[in-house]
Amino acid sequence: MTISQLDNATLQAQDKLQLHPLQHPKTHTDPLVIERGEGVYLYTADGRKILDGMAGLWNVNVGYGREELAQAAYEQMKRLAFTSNFAGMTNVPATQLAHKLSGYAYSKLKTTFFTSGGSESNDSAFKIARYYWKRVGKPDKFKIIARKGAYHGITLAATFATGIERYHKMFGPPMPGFAHVPAPYPYRFEGDVRDGESIGMAAARAIEEAILREGPDTVAAVIAEPVQGVGGVIVPPDDYFPRVRQICDQYGVLLIADEVITGFGRTGELFGLNRYGVQPDILSFAKAITSGYQPLGGNQITDEIYDTIQTAPDTDSWMHGYTYSGHATACAVALRNLAIIEAEKLVEHGKEMGARLLAGLQTLKEFANVGDVRGIGLIYGVELVADKAAKTPDLALAAKVTRMCQDRGLRTRNVGSTLAFSPPLSITADEIDEIVRILGSVLDTLA
Ligand SMILES: Cc1ncc(COP(=O)(O)O)c(C=O)c1O
Repeated sequence: MTISQLDNATLQAQDKLQLHPLQHPKTHTDPLVIERGEGVYLYTADGRKILDGMAGLWNVNVGYGREELAQAAYEQMKRLAFTSNFAGMTNVPATQLAHKLSGYAYSKLKTTFFTSGGSESNDSAFKIARYYWKRVGKPDKFKIIARKGAYHGITLAATFATGIERYHKMFGPPMPGFAHVPAPYPYRFEGDVRDGESIGMAAARAIEEAILREGPDTVAAVIAEPVQGVGGVIVPPDDYFPRVRQICDQYGVLLIADEVITGFGRTGELFGLNRYGVQPDILSFAKAITSGYQPLGGNQITDEIYDTIQTAPDTDSWMHGYTYSGHATACAVALRNLAIIEAEKLVEHGKEMGARLLAGLQTLKEFANVGDVRGIGLIYGVELVADKAAKTPDLALAAKVTRMCQDRGLRTRNVGSTLAFSPPLSITADEIDEIVRILGSVLDTLA
């Protein structure tokens, strides 16, 4: 039987045999069975059409249904779908992609290690940091400073780097070595702000204080998303990252940029820290490297870190790698995906569409429950509150609005009390207006 011959109810019944990510009976009744995607739209098995305001999970940057990417996968699979990429072997697309990516995000990051996704990339980043410090004679430096509200993935180390407690609760005890500090969240900053100090500086100071508290000789790295996605689409003030970079340099701590969401154009720049003129020591990427057409992620590292691997004695080998590191088909799709992003100038286009989305979302601030509208490039958050003056987060309302938007043909995602919008960079002006119109109509109904 082909998929189209199966009816929606049968598919939903069969789906009960699948344990979904973040599954809870409340959130997985009557799931949408997505059967096809085209541009920014998803089509369900029961005949609905939904504008995907989240580009999947912040990643389908070139939009759905791209023949070129299907073709790239087909051609590579026919030739060589996969082979080992462990030492002593390589494949053509992986070498070409590593070459393409050398200095692509940040001029100092020339060497790439491939993974299959974001969580693997962050676990690899922590292992790279540990490895590096051992090789330079500082084996006690293993701790990671992260931020509250951070989402770094769901492998064990990434779980405890994540700064959202719900992800920890059922999987403790916590892994040792992770400390969290307040995020640079201008709307509701949790740290202390001194007289005359900006929130960006205060949030950066929280990192410095954590390094001092833990002991600089024990801290390996700071990890930060340039824009916190799952934490509520938090865009830091402009003075934050330059100061974080200075602090890391001052105390001999590596800076890991988790650009799993922000990489490849989401923030209106190719990479999220480009905007601040800051370069990390280690980069984690995934998601939009293939626009989700194949699972692929990775890390990029500075020459200084790479040299510690290249000059290691046999006893200190880089014993780290995945079966699918440098997967030939995934790398071939990534190369074609990057060619599309460049040829169609999707970073610039996404930024232009983002400005239109921001202008539209800002008109919704007149609703009593819209507390804050924020974002950059083509990633936006609309934070819902029960009381504007008290800024009381309204998680239940965010969940309700999300459901109502879906019923009216718009997919958003409630991350806490914030509705996230991160549509394909290829979205048109009319489709942007459709997002604002549907969200506005839902808020209007509720008002
Ligand atoms: C910033 C960030 N880091 C890491 C991850 C984990 O990536 P993956 O789900 O591919 O393991 C995510 C996923 O959303 C993310 O948003």
